[in-house]
Amino acid sequence: MESMTGPMDFVVRGASRARSSKRREIRHRALSNWVADIAELTRPNAIHWCDGSQNEYNDLCKTLVAEGTFRKLNQEKRPNSYLAWSDPTDVARVEDRTFICSIHKYDAGPTNNWVQPSEMKATLTGLFAGCMTGRTLYVIPFSMGPLGSPISHIGVEITDSPYVVVNMRIMTRMGEEVVAALGEHGEFVRCLHSVGMPLSPGQADVAWPSNKEHKYIVHFPEEKSIWSYGSGYGGNALLGKKCFALRIASSMAREEGWLAEHMLILGVESPSGEKTYVAGAFPSACGKTNFAMLIPPAAFEGWKVTTVGDDIAWIKPGPDGKLYAINPEAGYFGVAPGTSVQSNPNAMAALAKNSIFTNVALTPDGDVWWEAMTETPPPELTDWQGRPWTPDCGRVAAHPNARFTAPAIQCPSIDPDWEKPEGVPISAFIFGGRRSKAVPLVVASFNWNFGVYMAATMGSETTAAAAGKVGDVRRDPMAMLPFCGYDIADYFDHWLEIGHAISDPPRIFCVNWFRKDAQGKFLWPGYGENMRVLKWIIERADGRAPAIQSPLGWMPRYEDLSWEGLESVTREQYTELMSVDREAWIGELLSHEELFLKLYERLPKEFVSMRQLLLASLWRSPVRWELPKE
Ligand code: GTP
Ligand code: SPV
Ligand code: MN
Repeated sequence: MESMTGPMDFVVRGASRARSSKRREIRHRALSNWVADIAELTRPNAIHWCDGSQNEYNDLCKTLVAEGTFRKLNQEKRPNSYLAWSDPTDVARVEDRTFICSIHKYDAGPTNNWVQPSEMKATLTGLFAGCMTGRTLYVIPFSMGPLGSPISHIGVEITDSPYVVVNMRIMTRMGEEVVAALGEHGEFVRCLHSVGMPLSPGQADVAWPSNKEHKYIVHFPEEKSIWSYGSGYGGNALLGKKCFALRIASSMAREEGWLAEHMLILGVESPSGEKTYVAGAFPSACGKTNFAMLIPPAAFEGWKVTTVGDDIAWIKPGPDGKLYAINPEAGYFGVAPGTSVQSNPNAMAALAKNSIFTNVALTPDGDVWWEAMTETPPPELTDWQGRPWTPDCGRVAAHPNARFTAPAIQCPSIDPDWEKPEGVPISAFIFGGRRSKAVPLVVASFNWNFGVYMAATMGSETTAAAAGKVGDVRRDPMAMLPFCGYDIADYFDHWLEIGHAISDPPRIFCVNWFRKDAQGKFLWPGYGENMRVLKWIIERADGRAPAIQSPLGWMPRYEDLSWEGLESVTREQYTELMSVDREAWIGELLSHEELFLKLYERLPKEFVSMRQLLLASLWRSPVRWELPKE
C-alpha cells in the first residue's frame, strides 16, 4: 500500500477486479491523508474508492452473494433485488451505546451518553487498531442533499462492510461526482465505520459480521466526525443518516441558524392546483413513511399528496422569511412489516425492484414477505433467521424492525421538486407520537412558542426501531431524543429562536393516529384517512379552516372535517378521539415536569410558565372536555 503516502489512487480490487484498470488521482490531500491514516490504523487487505457506478454496485452485490450476506431474489418477481439476514444480536439502533462526545459534558446534555473525547478516542483507537484485517476498506464519498444545493453537505464514510456501501448508494448521492465537488479543499464530515470483526489468515467470514461484545456509535460534534464500531445495521452503520444528517447536522444547524429534523416532508395539491408543503416529526416506526406517501381517499377527488422525504428534513430560513426544506437522503430505509398494497401502495411500488431487504422472510419462489404484506400469509416461508416458518408456528416471519432500502425516485408519489436545490417552502410542522391514551387526534397550537412547548413535551410509546423494551411511554421531544447532537434544552431554545428570527414561521400542529378505545381498538382508521386531518391542517395553516378553542389548542369540530366516504368513524367516536381528560393531562403535565427538572439548567424558562398556563386552562375546563354535540 505504498500509494498511501502520495496522492491516493483508486485501488479497485476484489469485487471489482474487472475494473481494476481504473485509476484516478485524489486531489484532496486532507481526504487522502485521512484514508491513509485510517488504513494504517485498521490494516485492511485492500482499499476500494467507490465510484458510485452501477457496475460497481452490481459487482459488490455479487460479492455479497458469494460471501453469503446476500441472497439474490427472484429476478422476475423482484428484479435486481437482494435479501440480507442480520445476526440476531444486531437488528436495531443501539441508543445505550450511542455517545455525543463534545468537549464539555454539559454540551451533550442530560439525555445523551457522554465520555470525554480523548478518553473515547483512546478506547476507539484500541478497538479500531487492526480491525479491518482480512477485509477491504471502502471509501464512500457521499452528498446529503442534491449536489450543489446550498443546503447540502458532503461526507465521506470509510467502512469495511460492502453491505453498507450498496445501501449508501441507494440512500445518498454517492461516488465520483462527490469527489469532484470536494475539489482540493472542500469540507466533509469524516464518518468511520467498522463491523469490528477482523479476520485472521484463513479464518472464514460469517454472513453478517458484527461485534457482540463492543458496540460504539460515537459523535464528536466539535470536529464533526463519527466513529461507529461493532454493528452493521441501519442507523448504526449507514452513517449519512442518523449520525450525520441528524446528530452532527443538528449541532451544525444550531451554530448556523437552521434545523436538522427527524421529519418527513410532503406536498399537498388541492383540486385548484394550490401546493402546500408540510414537515412532520414522528418517532421511529410511528408512521412517517406511510404519511409521506399518503394516497387520499376516493372522496378527495382532485387532491394529491406528493413525497419529498420520509425520514429527515434539513430546513433553512429563506430570504422571504419562510422556512425551506430539503430531504438530504436519496432513498428510503423503511420499516417493512405493516407495509402493503392497502396501507402504502407507493412504498410497495418503490420497493418493487432495485431494492435491498434486511430481516424480512423469504418465500419458496425467492420473493420477500413480512407481517401484513398480504392478508393471508403464504403457507410456508423461511423466516428472518433462516428457519422454516408456517402461519401457525407462533413466531413472526420478519423481524419487527425489518427494513427495505429503496431508491426514492422509484416512489410514484415523488414530488417533482424533491431535488430542488433551494428546497420547498414549509407551511406547517406536524408532531405526532404513538399514544393509545390521552392525546387527541389533532390540535393546532395557539402560537409558535406554545407549539414548540407541545413538540418538546411530546410522548410516544417505544417501538422496535431501537434495542430495548417496546411499548413504554417516553418523552421524545420533536422525535429527536435519540438524535439530538447537543443539549436538548438548548435545542428547545434554538427552536424558539428560529420562530422569532423569521417573519412567517409555519403553524404548529400535534396529531395522534394511535388513540385506542377501552377495548384496545384504534379509534382512528389512519393511513389514507389521515388526509381528512391533513386537509384541515393545510387550510388552518393559511387561516381558512374553522376551529374552536380547546384546553390544548385549536381543534376542528366534527363538521369542520370532511367525512364523505368514511362511515366507520361516528360522531361519538370522533368526540372520544378529540376529548381532553383532565386527570390524564395532569399525568401528562407531571411527566412534562419530570422532563423539565432533568433539563432545568438550560431549559427555556418560558416553558415553566407555559406549563402553568396549560394547567390553569385544564382546571377552567370540564373534567372531561369535549367538542360541542351540535
Ligand atoms: P423510521 O423509519 O423508523 O423513522 O419510522 P417511520 O416513522 O417512517 O415509520 P413507518 O412509517 O414505517 O411506520 C411503521 C409503523 O407505523 C407500522 O407499525 C404501521 O402499522 C404504523 N402506522 C403507520 N401509519 C399509521 C396510521 O396512520 N395509523 C396507525 N394506527 N398505524 C400507522
Ligand atoms: C429510525 O430508527 O428512526 C430509522 C431507522 O429511521 S435507522 O436508520 O436504523 O435509524
Ligand atoms: Mn427515522
